[in-house]
Amino acid sequence: MSLKTEITKDIHKCARAIKAGEIVAFGTETVYGLGADCFNEAAVKKIFEAKGRPSDNPLIVHICSIEQAKSVASCWNEDMDMLAKAFWPGPFTIIVPKAQNVPKIVSAGLDTVGIRMPGNYGAVEFIRTCGAPVAAPSANTSGRPSPTKAEHVFKDMKGKIPYILDNGQSEKGLESTVYDVMGKRILRPGVITKEDIEDIVGNIDVSSRKEDSAPKSPGTKYAHYCPSYEVVLIKGKDIEKKIYEICNFAIKANKKCVILDIKDGFKNMPAEIISFDGNLEQCAANLYKILLEGESNIDLLIVGAIPEEGIGAAIMNRLEKAAAGNIIYS
Ligand code: TXA
Ligand code: MG
Repeated sequence: MSLKTEITKDIHKCARAIKAGEIVAFGTETVYGLGADCFNEAAVKKIFEAKGRPSDNPLIVHICSIEQAKSVASCWNEDMDMLAKAFWPGPFTIIVPKAQNVPKIVSAGLDTVGIRMPGNYGAVEFIRTCGAPVAAPSANTSGRPSPTKAEHVFKDMKGKIPYILDNGQSEKGLESTVYDVMGKRILRPGVITKEDIEDIVGNIDVSSRKEDSAPKSPGTKYAHYCPSYEVVLIKGKDIEKKIYEICNFAIKANKKCVILDIKDGFKNMPAEIISFDGNLEQCAANLYKILLEGESNIDLLIVGAIPEEGIGAAIMNRLEKAAAGNIIYS
């Protein structure tokens, strides 16, 4: 059945739809989410159907207060409290032991649950008005780049959902950092960095820990963030020279080529350059927008790798997935 999909700023209309068991997309400061009442299993199931999401990939529960967070966790320790107070509202998800009342479909059968209080007013007001925590993954078809504008969601989800709550462009542009509190481990890097977390809970360097004993984020095993065109990531010692070569080769093959220059300051390239001059926040904020909106006119996006430090770790994590193994060493 095809629904009429409306982009709206009316929080009450969207909250009424959630209470009636519908799913609604809503803007957050990271990316747009596709939400349902966390306690309504039939509604949560609609999220998995609309996205084509594998059922073993758990959803994040979005809350509007620390009290509400405690209501979906089976325990609340000092680390959880300090992290919540330091980073909420904001782009930070904690994985904690799950309370019984959270349906299994939300956590994909795991005994933990991801919880986040979004960092923009519209999202928090929406959750408050819904009167229950809102379970939500990013509002994209599984495998596609995450949406950072209402229009991105509309293009992908029209006919499948009744409303998109337009909270403007997502300011951060990358999904939240996912941090497993009990395992002291980052499961997905984001704009809240390892150093930010260590400032609150001390050393989380787990390089000496046995890989197979550590909990994983199920979502990280799937192909992700892939636009309809090719993305190639260049690593190594002479990135500039390699990009120049690949670009020339692609142009000869009549491909519309664009170069994403995050920090190198490339000059004299034979193709259009999108440059961020080393401003990683700006790059993060615009990455998915570039990946998605380039679909109308790009055949090949060539990106020079950056050091995996600070926000650079989150940017590289998304780029490696967008490139889907298409990595060339110079
Ligand atoms: O910024 C964000 O986090 C956005 C906005 C909408 O809040 N949401 C988002 O959701 O990115 P999603 O579903 O696209 O990614 C959630 C990630 C997945 O990799 C999932 O596997 C992981 O979090 N996750 C959720 N619950 C988990 C759990 N209990 N244990 C381990 N990983 C979990
Ligand atoms: Mg996602």
